[in-house]
Amino acid sequence: MAVLITGGAGYVGIHTAVALLEAGKDVVVVDDFSNSSPDSIKGAEKITGRKITVFKADVADREALEKVFAGNSIDAVVHCAGFKAVGESCAEPVKYYRNNLDTTLTLLETMKKFGVTRAVFSSSATVYGGSDKMPLDETMPTGCTNPYGWTKFMIEQIFRDAAAADKSLSVMLLRYFNPVGAHESGLIGEDPRGIPNNLMPYIALVAAGELPRLNVFGGDYPTKDGTGVRDYIHIMDLAAGHLAAVGYTEKHTGCEAVNLGTGRPYSVLEMVDAYSRASGREIPYVITDRRPGDVAECYADPSKAAKLLNWKADRGLDEMCRDSWKWICGKK
Ligand code: UFG
Repeated sequence: MAVLITGGAGYVGIHTAVALLEAGKDVVVVDDFSNSSPDSIKGAEKITGRKITVFKADVADREALEKVFAGNSIDAVVHCAGFKAVGESCAEPVKYYRNNLDTTLTLLETMKKFGVTRAVFSSSATVYGGSDKMPLDETMPTGCTNPYGWTKFMIEQIFRDAAAADKSLSVMLLRYFNPVGAHESGLIGEDPRGIPNNLMPYIALVAAGELPRLNVFGGDYPTKDGTGVRDYIHIMDLAAGHLAAVGYTEKHTGCEAVNLGTGRPYSVLEMVDAYSRASGREIPYVITDRRPGDVAECYADPSKAAKLLNWKADRGLDEMCRDSWKWICGKK
């Protein structure tokens, strides 16, 4: 029996593949490689000494997906496939709704056809919208501020409705906070195309001398040092959360949303300091205007994950920066 990871060559997918393989599960990946590279598959195979069955296909391609289900005994799905750039989603909303919803609907129909009842979905803390009450727990109201976020919100609802109608379904909606870092081997990591939008990959390229300086978006937030505060979580802790969620779906039915975060917030300037220590490099920065759509603070109450999944993040900020830097240095 195998776990299918859609978008399994991407940043979250490939680290999750490593966690599942190391736990003895077989892994099947479907990825169209539109925003990922087959190198990540090779890296994961090298780390684990195990083979991954890979299909190059769009998850919305029903015929291709049915072949994957027909040819492999899939007993659970981790659904990571999807477009994820907030800015691009504002410029091309229809493309985002078409892709992220289509893949999910085709996946659910195919699961039904082949009698697969267990799913874990890559959701996001973005579904809490602009709440100013922190920390965020799963009972708080949801609502989004951009089309990317709305796709996550809508997909959560689709899974919730599907699980309400079909009592055999078991779904975990994992609301990620800010995943960063890389596998400690340095063999796999985040590989954004072009200039990164997110903080840690950007800082990493400044440390490596590939970008001249970091633009810190806003120095006048009502936070400890005026810069934005987030809940950064080591990607291997996030991967372990997926493994725990896959295990949970084996023993329960229904649909649950769970935060995957550390509950320990850090500011942009604290991130700059920590990365500078880990890399031994200076990170020049300038404080610029706020980025439209950003909130001052966003961090998790991770207690539901601890209770339900017996999971908590245990890698600290220094490990996040160290492993990111190892990955960046290995790529050169
Ligand atoms: N930041 C900078 N300079 C940069 C990039 C980011 O100062 O060049 C700041 C942001 O203003 C923010 C913090 O660094 O305060 C983190 O920004 P990221 O872009 O790394 O992450 P976000 O919190 O904005 O977004 C992340 C994911 C989204 C998800 C969102 C909501 O990237 O996919 O969390 O949880 F929707």
